[in-house]
Amino acid sequence: MKYPARVKIIDVGPRDGLQNEKQPVPAAVKIELVQRLQDAGLKEIEVTSFVSPKWVPQMADAASVMAGIVRDSGVLYSVLTPNLKGFEAAVASRPDEIVVFGAASEAFSQKNINCSIAESIERFAPVVQAALDAGIAVRGAISCTVGCPYEGEIAPEKVGYVARLMKDIGVQRVDVADTIGVGTPIKVQKALEAALAHFGIDQVSGHFHDTYGQALSNTLAALELGVWNFQSSVAGLGGCPYAKGATGNVATEDVIYLLQGMGIETGIDLDKLIDAGQFISDHLGRPTQSRVAKALLTKRAG
Ligand code: HMG
Ligand code: MG
Repeated sequence: MKYPARVKIIDVGPRDGLQNEKQPVPAAVKIELVQRLQDAGLKEIEVTSFVSPKWVPQMADAASVMAGIVRDSGVLYSVLTPNLKGFEAAVASRPDEIVVFGAASEAFSQKNINCSIAESIERFAPVVQAALDAGIAVRGAISCTVGCPYEGEIAPEKVGYVARLMKDIGVQRVDVADTIGVGTPIKVQKALEAALAHFGIDQVSGHFHDTYGQALSNTLAALELGVWNFQSSVAGLGGCPYAKGATGNVATEDVIYLLQGMGIETGIDLDKLIDAGQFISDHLGRPTQSRVAKALLTKRAG
């Protein structure tokens, strides 16, 4: 088995992680989290979302967070924009990349962004065009690629359908997301392959929530296909407010430990990453969800 020689991680903790917190997290804390992630060597960070504050109040400070981060020229900062209103608000913050987010499940599309899959593509098209015209890169997230909290199992054909529609409107790369963490390796490979029918291997990433504890296995299954881009959250933060019961993303610390153990290059300093995870966990007042961080923190204490 030949695995990729290197892997790129987008840490989505500041966005996917903190969008789901019950308690408000001050912008200053989000800004420091971004700083700590870049200090740990992350080259891509999903910072925030320009979404309706009525839908997701946790992201209402998007512009302040973007204004407060101290940018490193080697780091790509992305933000979620569900519509033109969000894009227009985001553009002033100079994101390197915007993310339009759709779903392979009709019911989830309705719950999350209040429109059908077809309508979402119609909404995204002018956003994608405006971003490309402004020299901003465009990523597309596809939720519920293996399972949906409302529809159950999702066929790979539905993933292929959305991936094709995204490709047709100019989306440059896509995230295959297991929103509720129900996927297992073969199912996840099928979902990835459905996206790979429309996008190249460098343009497809894995975004695995760890609700059922399968995310590392699914990461390995993705690596076996040659996928080398992944999203994860420091300390395993995360969850979508419209996917009840779904827990956080796979912890970045756990993915890095896996990759380092396999001799795959990531450019990330695991100790500094654990410090970043500890910073946000301390702020939230609960232990990290990362098994690797727990183990290494215990070792440090000893
Ligand atoms: P809507 O209610 O259908 O939108 O929501 P609307 O166009 O009818 O507007 C309604 C109100 O929202 C208006 O305000 C608009 O101005 C305002 P009002 O007149 O009532 O005062 N509005 C906005 N305000 C700020 N920024 C905007 C914006 N758009 C409208 N961009 C909408 C449609 C998409 C806006 C809404 O459903 C929404 O914000 N949804 C966001 C849901 C979300 O953020 N979910 C979590 C992120 S996705 C995720 O976590 C999954 C992922 O991690 C992958 C995975 O794991 O699956 C990416
Ligand atoms: Mg997610």
